[in-house]
Amino acid sequence: MTQDELKQAVAQAAADYVAANAPAGSIIGVGTGSTANFFIDALAALKDRYKGAVASSEATRQRLEGHGIRVFDLNEVDDIPVYVDGADEIDAGLNMIKGGGGALTREKIVAAVATTFVCICDESKRVAAMGKFPLPVEVIPMARAHVARELAKLGGTPVLREGFVTDNGNLILDVKDLHITDPKTLEGQINQITGVVTNGLFAMRPANLLLLGTAGGVRSIVA
Ligand code: 5RP
Repeated sequence: MTQDELKQAVAQAAADYVAANAPAGSIIGVGTGSTANFFIDALAALKDRYKGAVASSEATRQRLEGHGIRVFDLNEVDDIPVYVDGADEIDAGLNMIKGGGGALTREKIVAAVATTFVCICDESKRVAAMGKFPLPVEVIPMARAHVARELAKLGGTPVLREGFVTDNGNLILDVKDLHITDPKTLEGQINQITGVVTNGLFAMRPANLLLLGTAGGVRSIVA
């Protein structure tokens, strides 16, 4: 199976999970990235069953609307039963690194509202310890140099994502060389640096369910 076929298979499994678990008439949270895009395409078949979706990025909003799925502002929504999104790395505790597509802040906000976070990815994303994938950190532009110095004090090597501005008008520092032994503590430490909007560690709010695309089929994994 190609990587795209694995992504397609987990995306369909997530749509099946949504159909079985999200009440008719509810609003679905939708993530960002190539795997999430396959999920959006699968969700289109269910669009008459749901009121609509909340999007974690402008790209996702456009793709949902392209399928005729109504997109709600999160402030209009009290309850998201299921949020489906990809990840750049995921460990055995279902802690994740996200933000390869730069949408980490909105993804974290939608995930905070959702009851169940379903992570969808192919098996290349499953790791014993996170940190090989550089950790994205969204930064207020005027704080870029200060935040970079503080991240270096934590042992990281921050690299500005060139030519990239987030949907929120901010910058991304991709941080290499971090030894992530305690993801929850590190997530909090980085978020305490003045000028950081948020970072791509999802350990305080990990996934509840991982649908993992493998050569042998889609595996359902809980922490
Ligand atoms: C975007 C993300 C994505 O979920 C992550 O980068 C995975 O993307 P893909 O499914 O394309 O591998 O966090 O900000």
